[in-house]
Amino acid sequence: MKIRVRVNGQTYESDVEPRKLLVYYLRDDLGLTGTHVGCDTTSCGACTVLLDGKAVKSCTVLAVQADGRDVMTVEGLEQDGELHPLQTAFWEEHGLQCGYCTPGMLMSGYALLQTNPDPSEEEIRRGISGNLCRCTGYMNIVKAIRSAASKLADASAEPSKEVAASGSSSD
Ligand code: FES
Ligand code: FES
Repeated sequence: MKIRVRVNGQTYESDVEPRKLLVYYLRDDLGLTGTHVGCDTTSCGACTVLLDGKAVKSCTVLAVQADGRDVMTVEGLEQDGELHPLQTAFWEEHGLQCGYCTPGMLMSGYALLQTNPDPSEEEIRRGISGNLCRCTGYMNIVKAIRSAASKLADASAEPSKEVAASGSSSD
């Protein structure tokens, strides 16, 4: 079946088998291997991507169901060679060990911060409850998402400071 999918801002037209899962379309057809496959049975969350802005487990979605829709994978977080603040926070707060769960954790964390820019620890834990990590004990993952929320809040406050500064200099 022919599908047309926008992935990380780029449009792809592909011919896929109706039974192909989105995760295998992303990894095998598009070469976007940042999305991991842990269980293939909707349990671990390693395959989490955003579909029209909502976190989904891409081993539970058929590629044909993404036709005409917008997908964001972990590769879409970095912009112009700069890591996303969430990625930086995972690095700084040691939010990973083996890294297998990390792409899924990042995408669930990203989806959470899109709807709740200032989540409590409990809200973060609920937000990543569909993602399993067998290494970290989750503490540093939660800390990393909290830290990313602060970084993003600071970044969004900066332009208004600049506006204020430029406003005062023209007085
Ligand atoms: S690979 Fe999709 S939930 Fe585990
Ligand atoms: S860092 Fe190894 S599974 Fe999470």
